[in-house]
Amino acid sequence: MQSIKHILIDTDPGVDDALALALAFMNEGLRIDLLTTVHGNISLAQSTENALKLLSFWGKHIPVAAGAAVPLTGKTVTALSVHGPNGLGGLELPDPTCSVIEIDAVTAMDRVLKKADQPMTIVAIAPLTNIARLLQQHPEDREKISNLVIMGGAWGRGNAGVLSEFNIFNDPQAAEIVFNQGLTLTVLPLEIGRQAQIKKTILPTIAASGRVGRSIADMLAGYRSGSKDAFNIYDALTMAYLAHPEYFTLVPAFVAIETSGRYTRGASLIDDRGKLKQSANAKVAKSIDSVAFSHWFEQQWQ
Ligand code: RIB
Ligand code: CA
Repeated sequence: MQSIKHILIDTDPGVDDALALALAFMNEGLRIDLLTTVHGNISLAQSTENALKLLSFWGKHIPVAAGAAVPLTGKTVTALSVHGPNGLGGLELPDPTCSVIEIDAVTAMDRVLKKADQPMTIVAIAPLTNIARLLQQHPEDREKISNLVIMGGAWGRGNAGVLSEFNIFNDPQAAEIVFNQGLTLTVLPLEIGRQAQIKKTILPTIAASGRVGRSIADMLAGYRSGSKDAFNIYDALTMAYLAHPEYFTLVPAFVAIETSGRYTRGASLIDDRGKLKQSANAKVAKSIDSVAFSHWFEQQWQ
């Protein structure tokens, strides 16, 4: 009997976020106990509306709590050129039949963690503002977080800056806080999404799989991340990790976040060779078995 893993997801849906959510719902070994929204790809308001619309359209009933509209310092940076003007690749979904719960994201995460009888996995697929605030306001909750799986950072070239990945770039102060809490962190940087692209030829298979698949295919049609023939679906790799951690090669590393560099704000220096003389604060994915991942991904839509 497979044990059920209870998770929290912090998200800025976003097309690859929506794909990650869909894959989470397809995994019978996962229970999403709470969805929290945050600024990032789009505004907080749009992020929250998108989350509610996706859950309503898919007939999924889980609590949604809205979080931070802006980073800890500075202004948010959206990614409308990647995710389309509404954040869902231009797909217009019906108005949601559900609404956010009356408490904010940090309060909701705190209550869920405190109530849990086992430590939980948090999946962070957006700027880390909500997570940082949770850890600042409720440091006691750290013992109830068994693993924080983060889509973020880059070993090398960024997507938001020369060396900065979008989620970290959007709130480097939050990322610095999160990486310095002594939590078990599993980091899936940009390179993993670039190694495990999905080919655009899979769109008809996804669309033919049913209501969820049709909406995912429609969103991907308006998603601008990847190449002529394939998509980078960064956030979705967190769900591949939860389903099949064996696909990933992780190395212990000290991840330093540049918070103030004139040209390097939001850069994640992933030191797996002791250059910075700091002990490791995360396990970072260096590679993925992209053949096994592609086979797994295709199986999800059969
Ligand atoms: O850099 C990729 C990340 O930024 C993903 O989470 C994507 O949704 C965007 O938020
Ligand atoms: Ca995201």
